[in-house]
Amino acid sequence: MRVFVTGSTGFIGTDLVKELIEAGHEVRGLTRSDAGEEQLRAAGAEVHRGDLTDLDSLRSGAAGMDVVVNLAFNHNFATFAQNAAEEIKAIEALGSALEPGKLLVVTSGIGITAGTTGQVRKESDPPAESPVMPRRPEHAAQAVAATGVHVAVVRLPQVHDTRKQGLVTRLIQMAREKGVSAYVGDGATRWAAGPLSDVAHLYRLAVEKPGAGRTIYHAVQEEGVPLRDIAETIGKGLKVPVVSIPPEKAVEHFGPFFGYAAQLDMPASSEWTRKTLGWTPAGPGLIEELTNMKY
Ligand SMILES: NC(=O)c1ccc[n+]([C@@H]2O[C@H](COP(=O)([O-])OP(=O)(O)OC[C@H]3O[C@@H](n4cnc5c(N)ncnc54)[C@H](OP(=O)(O)O)[C@@H]3O)[C@@H](O)[C@H]2O)c1
Repeated sequence: MRVFVTGSTGFIGTDLVKELIEAGHEVRGLTRSDAGEEQLRAAGAEVHRGDLTDLDSLRSGAAGMDVVVNLAFNHNFATFAQNAAEEIKAIEALGSALEPGKLLVVTSGIGITAGTTGQVRKESDPPAESPVMPRRPEHAAQAVAATGVHVAVVRLPQVHDTRKQGLVTRLIQMAREKGVSAYVGDGATRWAAGPLSDVAHLYRLAVEKPGAGRTIYHAVQEEGVPLRDIAETIGKGLKVPVVSIPPEKAVEHFGPFFGYAAQLDMPASSEWTRKTLGWTPAGPGLIEELTNMKY
């Protein structure tokens, strides 16, 4: 198949491009930079120069493709709401360039799935409508599906290897800066996790499965890893004390976003995804990766 991948030079995109090419697919990758261009050529992909904010560059990249995978996102927290708005426009532009019956794979997150604290998020749960979280990739995906293009949504947990672990990477930076590794209250709050290689494999399975309206997958290997275990492993790695922060001091310690996220108990299941895609994640768990990484 001919597959256009945005975010093709990023943490997940790099593994996915390799995985797709090894499986015999033709890959066109989006990048803004010369370094990205070099990386894509070395991997055997066609290069498409463009930007999420240049919708024409997205439409021309997607034109004539069998599948488009959207992984690009501007992670600059200072302009987060604007980046989220640009993501919606980008998804709509990518979808508009695909013929009905072709497939758009959209990246979303377990953290932006509706659910009360402690509730195990399932593929059948809708996206969250929270005013504090402006990212709305699934709403844009729904609008694309209404045009007859098939849509597969991949909801990501903390995606990890020994270099990066999603939001946990920022917790490590904070522990280094503050000299303590912290969790909130009793630290029972859980975050779901998935190993990078298994997550990339899930995207490939989603690309290869014939589209069917709108489908939602959870790239979850571990349903929920307690933040206390994460903080203790980081503390050992950095050789700093592990402390509990009372909930009323969480924002002061972690800042507004992490002060909130560190109190979100958001386990997630992937039972339906495993059955539907025949996906059997086998990589190391999050704590094992955090134990084996270089601090
Ligand atoms: N990693 C995780 O644990 C995790 C968890 C939940 C959700 N996600 C989501 O999964 C997706 C991929 O994450 P990642 O960790 O692989 O990201 P990443 O390593 O930060 O890579 C970001 C990618 O986006 C591209 N990009 C950034 N700004 C762009 C722009 N303005 N125009 C075009 N391309 C742009 C970059 O390409 P160039 O620099 O080459 O142009 C790069 O390939 C993102 O939507 C992320 O929010 C990730």
